[in-house]
Amino acid sequence: EDYALGGYPDFMRKEMAEQPDAVRRALRGRLDERFATAHLGGLNMDARELRGISKVVFLGCGSAYYAGQLGAQLVEELARIPATAEPASEFRYRNPVVDPDALYVAISQSGETIDTLAAVQELQRKGGRVIGAVNVVGSAIARECGAGVFLHAGPEVSVASTKALTNMTVSFAMLGLLLGRVRDLSAASGERIVNGLRALPDAIDAVLAADDAIADIAARFAKARSMFFIGRVRAWPVAREGAQKLKEISYIHAEAYQGSELKHGPLALIDSEMPSIVLVPGDELLAKNITTIEQIKARGGPVIAVTNTDLPDGLADAVIRVPAVCAELDPIILTIPLQLLAYHTAMALGRDVDKPRNLAKSVTVE
Ligand code: AGP
Repeated sequence: EDYALGGYPDFMRKEMAEQPDAVRRALRGRLDERFATAHLGGLNMDARELRGISKVVFLGCGSAYYAGQLGAQLVEELARIPATAEPASEFRYRNPVVDPDALYVAISQSGETIDTLAAVQELQRKGGRVIGAVNVVGSAIARECGAGVFLHAGPEVSVASTKALTNMTVSFAMLGLLLGRVRDLSAASGERIVNGLRALPDAIDAVLAADDAIADIAARFAKARSMFFIGRVRAWPVAREGAQKLKEISYIHAEAYQGSELKHGPLALIDSEMPSIVLVPGDELLAKNITTIEQIKARGGPVIAVTNTDLPDGLADAVIRVPAVCAELDPIILTIPLQLLAYHTAMALGRDVDKPRNLAKSVTVE
């Protein structure tokens, strides 16, 4: 075990640190600078088939579902194909209408999650086209799908998924780019996304280098009983995943909300004991997100802002600054500091980050 840890105190720490290299592996041989697109040979689909896709539906459980939500946002934005995400565990029980022209994407690090596997089998029974986005080669879901995108994250041991999740989102950005370029995404826009993807490993490195500052912030707020994670549109799946990570390894209750929904109820929970982690990408919603922070502050709520842009001085109680890559891909970067925040909160509370209570790495029975 010491050898496998390679000097790291635990697997979660090791796997977070491996993310820049994991992303480089996911991108290797798949980006095409000349035609500003991506090559995903494992899909086994030509341009005509790719053009014929009517919608994309991402299916996964837990964090894989949140990665799918981020994927749906990317595909819809880059390719202008309707895209949604749904927990695989619910999909298989609600007798879904299966569209033969849709592309279904089964997402799983382990490739063994029973609910995701059952969703794949239900889709195949109904004539749906389903591909895998799987990390473990030769796993049940990879075999059942027969086509897809391998994640190339390398082995993931910690129950809390980090590098596999990041590579899911990177793979979905490439899928969105590919689907976009066979439709209406211009070569210039495609080039911007290719360059953004190439910039991701260094940007993730820069976030990892802010570890000490994030550890200090985590220690300041580790006594909280509950936290909000606030994000809108592109950052909404990021907020959901951030809340999931915190719950999973620190056992602090956390809830994700869209900033726009706060005033419809949850604002009543804000007081000095309820910190909010607010995601503030420097995109079209910047002014709205700043207003959200002001609304929380006006009610006495502490705010940790996670941003890739300059914010007014004194706006938040703590700021985690990350690099900006390009608006569509920035959610991938914003996910990384939330891993570190959850990790350091759990460490401050003396939790076993690799083996949180009540949880298994993969859920192979219902
Ligand atoms: C992630 O931190 C969780 N441990 C969990 O939600 C996980 O993502 C989920 O169980 C799906 O696992 P899979 O990717 O192996 O299918």
